[in-house]
Amino acid sequence: MIDRARLSAIYGRERADFVARHPASAAAYARSGHLFGRVPMTWMNKNAGDFPIYLDRALGSRVWDIDGLEYVDFALGDTGAMAGHSPAATVAAIQHRIADLGGITTMLPTEDAEWVGAELTRRFGLPRWSFSLTATDANRWAIRLVRALTGRPKILFNSYCYHGSVDESLIVVGPDGEGRSRPGNVGEPVPVTLTSRVAEFNDLDGLERQLAHGDVAAVLMEPALTNVGIVLPEPGFLEGVRELTHRYDVLLINDETHTFSAGPGGATRAWGLEPDILIIGKSIAGGVPMGAYGLSAEFADRALARSDLDLVDMGGVGGTLAGNPLSVAATRATLEHVLTDEAFAQMIDTATYFADGVQCVIDRYSLPWSLSQLGARAEYRFASPAPRNGTESAASADAELEDLIHLYLLNRGVCLTPFHNMALMSPVTTTADVDLHHGVFGAAIGELLGG
Ligand SMILES: Cc1ncc(COP(=O)(O)O)c(C=O)c1O
Repeated sequence: MIDRARLSAIYGRERADFVARHPASAAAYARSGHLFGRVPMTWMNKNAGDFPIYLDRALGSRVWDIDGLEYVDFALGDTGAMAGHSPAATVAAIQHRIADLGGITTMLPTEDAEWVGAELTRRFGLPRWSFSLTATDANRWAIRLVRALTGRPKILFNSYCYHGSVDESLIVVGPDGEGRSRPGNVGEPVPVTLTSRVAEFNDLDGLERQLAHGDVAAVLMEPALTNVGIVLPEPGFLEGVRELTHRYDVLLINDETHTFSAGPGGATRAWGLEPDILIIGKSIAGGVPMGAYGLSAEFADRALARSDLDLVDMGGVGGTLAGNPLSVAATRATLEHVLTDEAFAQMIDTATYFADGVQCVIDRYSLPWSLSQLGARAEYRFASPAPRNGTESAASADAELEDLIHLYLLNRGVCLTPFHNMALMSPVTTTADVDLHHGVFGAAIGELLGG
């Protein structure tokens, strides 16, 4: 249905426009020879133009690049900036902490930490919390704890999941239905099948086959996949996961780092889930590095009672900067004043407005695409019906088409998340911001299809 020659001609024109409009970013990129891959982090090369745009400033739902161009930002740091850029309450708390009180990192607890723990309990239900700086580390440390307490070696993941750069999670279902290393896995420390098992999302039979081996300590999953498009759980799937994990005496870890978009207590509260451990990160400190994991009281007590486990020094769980006063103050302010219950209601309404408008374009052109919404985020995939699992969703990728849409939007002042077609709404994202997207998106599809 898509004329590839037409697509590539439009993409060529958009690339030339992009280069012409960004001389300052082009020069900055050309000057960055001391950086690995010319960028501060290699994934910043994932962009649809010939180089990344360089940030000048960001506020609310907007970013500005060093060429002076303004964008509505639906990427929002791939969730890290879900609170909007530099929300006033978070900035005030940061300034108070570091400028008035002093103390960015001290090895001493602050009283904000208990407030944050109590608020996370109110939202997600888990009664004991520990902090990291990233969701990756929260996952890593939770994995160590569940191994230690169950005495079982393996963690089960869903195929094409993403939980950060966690060694154990880089596993996919191979053609024989068994696990194998994810393509591109960089320097795996040991073959991933020694540490992990894998099942497709929405596949309870596959999950049970793997759990029946009796060597799985925990299932670590997102309640909906969010990193290979949004793949929503089918009715009964999450209940089935909980039932099977109970039956095989396996712990359930829900990673809510992205599914937090489902509501103020993530999918856990929105859908009444009961994980044993919960992971969160990225957004809860308004963009300041912060991660956290929540534990049941029983699990936490059992871990603390194990005198053979070094939980205070070099046992493999923890980091010097974790729980620092700055991160904790920023988290308190963000949860208390920015990502509030009321804010979520509005973010979800805005995302519904976004999803409805995209669906109108899909319908107008009878595109064989599907759109999924998860609270404050929405995303379309180039497949209809919507993919049911990670493998199907990965197979529906169309890099050329995706790059064209991203660049067409970027050239007209709209940023989507670089890794997929995801749009996230902050508390200050407006329907006017969404209208801007829809106008450009409709024009891109219209031009592509010659309509
Ligand atoms: C579900 C999930 N968990 C964990 C992470 C890791 O977050 P970070 O890179 O901040 O450690 C991500 C990152 O995208 C994620 O999507």
